[in-house]
Amino acid sequence: MEQQMSLSGAIPGLGERFGLSTKRIHYRSQLVAYPYFLISAILFFLQIIFGLLTAAYYIWPTYWDQVLPFNISRSTHLNLLIFWLLLGLMGAAFYFIPEETKSELFSPKMALIQFGILVVAGLGTLFSFWFLQASRGKPFTESPMPWPILIALGVVLFLINVGTTIVRAKRWTAIAVVLFAGMLGLALTYLINFVFFQNLTVDYYWWWWIIHLWVEGTWELIAAAVMAYLLIALTGVEASRMTRWLYAEVFLTLATGIIGIGHHYYWIGTPKYWLLWGAIFSAFEPLPIALMVYDTFVSMRHRQVEPSNKVTWYFLVGSAVSHFIGAGLWGFAQTLPQINKWTHGTQITASHGHFAFFGAFGMLVLAAIYYMLPKLKGAERIQETRGKWAFWLMTVGITLMVFSFTIAGVVQTYLYRLVGLDFMLVRTQYVGFWIFFVWLFGLVVFAPGVTIYLWDFFALGRPAKGRTAISAAA
Ligand code: HEM
Ligand code: HEM
Ligand SMILES: [Fe+2]
Repeated sequence: MEQQMSLSGAIPGLGERFGLSTKRIHYRSQLVAYPYFLISAILFFLQIIFGLLTAAYYIWPTYWDQVLPFNISRSTHLNLLIFWLLLGLMGAAFYFIPEETKSELFSPKMALIQFGILVVAGLGTLFSFWFLQASRGKPFTESPMPWPILIALGVVLFLINVGTTIVRAKRWTAIAVVLFAGMLGLALTYLINFVFFQNLTVDYYWWWWIIHLWVEGTWELIAAAVMAYLLIALTGVEASRMTRWLYAEVFLTLATGIIGIGHHYYWIGTPKYWLLWGAIFSAFEPLPIALMVYDTFVSMRHRQVEPSNKVTWYFLVGSAVSHFIGAGLWGFAQTLPQINKWTHGTQITASHGHFAFFGAFGMLVLAAIYYMLPKLKGAERIQETRGKWAFWLMTVGITLMVFSFTIAGVVQTYLYRLVGLDFMLVRTQYVGFWIFFVWLFGLVVFAPGVTIYLWDFFALGRPAKGRTAISAAA
């Protein structure tokens, strides 16, 4: 019976239309991952378009603001980011939870309903930004009512579905537990979003419980689970060795990350003791991230087979390394109050935001999709050339963009905070010059990488033509 509840069972014809196949997967319900991946890939592409439009504002400020107000394009850029990452991570979870629990998903139909709810919430959010000029203001969580209710409902359905699958199968594997704990934490902290505090300090105090505890807490757990799954799947390294690592990483992440929230409490009217606590705990945050890099390389050495799907490897190693540099080093560089006093809220912050988000979560989602998508399409072999181009263009592109953001930030910090020039003068006369390079590298290097990835998304699994590099998709 359960067998019938596949993607094609829930919506007749859908699986066939998208060229999905059960040939290379063990559980039919894994197919529900596909629509999540598909929309994730499209939203990623759109996010980049809006990144370019947002940067354009710095280059042609007076003209561009009349075409598309900065706040609307920035909010669109950020919310598309959150949506494509969440959809990608949830899709990956729907793919590996059946394997971890050795059972079909509790309800593929519920997974598709959840998907529909999240898509409506996403479209509704964009509609509200563009046509109603509605926004709740605080970045990343600015989606106005009623969409947050749908977002929360989507996450609750995810938890019920995955939770019931684990409980029914009675298989509490480390990967399943860590993933579930991460998603539960994500949902609980998101509830704070439903309360509005009149006092802005109090409001921002709690906002950081969502933003900071997401990226440096709950999302880290989800990422650690996905990373562990992919490492085991790709290398055949024993699960027990991986499990010990996973728990150690999770423990250290929470131990440093929770109190590390203090690095956002230096200057917003919160008690002075945060200067010390924030500095000490957040300074240790790079440690678990470094362990993850170490772990990735040790797993590679332990692997019993040559990794056949090289593109997945590229993105996986790329993610571990840029997670460490972008979140760990770039975060550390501005986390001590002595430095943050000068750099707070400048383009230096943006340089770290781009590096960390793309490295830690973006590349991980791409690694998961490159591993799982060929299997969902039943492909025996994949064409790797495009995937490698996508990887290198994105990697080089984000590096060049991050450096441009960093220089823009240094110039901004110097002229605005040290020399004391007017904020708008610095922004329009000096910072724009460097954001031009962000825009240029984004346009000519990063965006082509994303375009190739989107193309590859649809092409993967189709029989390769001519003498192109192909390899087994395992
Ligand atoms: C994957 C992990 C991480 C992600 C995705 C991430 C992302 C971000 C983003 C987007 C912001 C800007 C928030 C805003 O003001 O709108 C930010 C700020 C900040 N992050 Fe991270 N971060 C991560 C890890 C870290 C780590 C490990 C550290 C410290 C070692 C750190 C230190 C900071 C600090 C100090 C700020 C505030 C900068 C300021 O005052 O302007 N971050 N982070
Ligand atoms: C062509 C590529 C891109 C361009 C041109 C671009 C440009 C921009 C610009 C101009 C901003 C506003 C900065 C400000 O408020 O002053 C921004 C914000 C942001 N973008 Fe992008 N972006 C691109 C790609 C990405 C990617 C791939 C990611 C992550 C996966 C990302 C994540 C972010 C984040 C987290 C922020 C908020 C930073 C903060 O709070 O300080 N962007 N982007
Ligand atoms: Fe933080």
